[in-house]
Amino acid sequence: MSSKITAAITAVGAYVPPNVLTNADLEKMVDTTSDWILSRTGIAERHILKGEGLGTSDMIVPAVQELLKKRGISAEEIDCMIVGTVTPDMVFPSTANVVCDKIGAKNAWGFDLGAACSGFLYALTTGAALIESGRYKKVVVVGADKMSSIIDYTDRSTCIIFGDGAGAVLLEPNSEDLGVLDSILKSDGSGRHYLHQKAGGSVKPATAATVAAKEHFVYQEGQPVFKYAVKGMADVSAELMERNRLSADDVAWLVPHQANLRIIDATAKRMGLSNEKVMVNIEKYGNTTAATLPLCLSDWEKKLKKGDNVVLAAFGGGFTWGAIWLKWAY
Ligand code: UT7
Repeated sequence: MSSKITAAITAVGAYVPPNVLTNADLEKMVDTTSDWILSRTGIAERHILKGEGLGTSDMIVPAVQELLKKRGISAEEIDCMIVGTVTPDMVFPSTANVVCDKIGAKNAWGFDLGAACSGFLYALTTGAALIESGRYKKVVVVGADKMSSIIDYTDRSTCIIFGDGAGAVLLEPNSEDLGVLDSILKSDGSGRHYLHQKAGGSVKPATAATVAAKEHFVYQEGQPVFKYAVKGMADVSAELMERNRLSADDVAWLVPHQANLRIIDATAKRMGLSNEKVMVNIEKYGNTTAATLPLCLSDWEKKLKKGDNVVLAAFGGGFTWGAIWLKWAY
């Protein structure tokens, strides 16, 4: 027993919409091949949320409901909800507010957090601090994006990468030194030039001209982002291991952001980890931005053991990047 309160993940939930967009489908939409996509990114298919009036909150609701069911608690017991997303239902109010209303989390406050592909890492660190402070007992941390709402399906350099999905974890106080133990988060806003959405913000509000110019879609210069991502994700993961004196043998699992299999491989190599310790599901979901990490935790939940050292790492728009060390709590 330790007197220090840590924030432990005590339940996980996830949701991907049923509609699947395969590489073969994309071959019919843009000038690409299934082999090119698979060999350059590792992606075979992605899930797309279809349906009029459906947004990111509609994927978060089933994810959080699954988590509540697993933990055996009601929505009213949630103290706070943090949603990492760059595709909120609306500019305002926050998607966290919408989700709390839809699930009946009447006693919760909440907010959205925008850190693109690092959204879940930033939200998990923030949620853990709320638990560690002793003020809150049940914080739900979500990573969710409906990337299909900001993707140009005539642009072969971006439409092959992204997919939709949502994942959520419940954080609760722990006195056995389990849960989030360290976190290194970084940002460099000069990276915004390589990865952004040009219009729809206060600099360039939506007009007929911005829509015609396709400025409400993801703009990405793939090569520079790739270069920074490989270095950023590998460096920060190595830094986290060094400062906590974790050897490759100590680490049970790497949970990497699923942007490109080659970026994942470079990070694992730098950490000295064999493939069996690396969670990879990019082939079936693509890059779901803030949802990639909790979707991995959900897919691997049954294999995780109490006390496992888990390292989560991500790199994305901003630039934002970082790594978290946690001990699995159940
Ligand atoms: O999660 C947020 C952070 N984002 C990332 O981490 C993404 C990082 N970037 C990447 O993963 C890669 O840069 C991409 C997957 C986006 C692109 O792969 P790449 O190996 O960097 O390709 P490239 O941009 O260097 O393009 C190589 C060639 C080009 O043709 P030329 O100029 O050599 O004739 C492209 O036009 O591949 C062409 N190309 C394609 N060909 C077939 C680009 N997209 C496609 C495509 N199908 N879908």
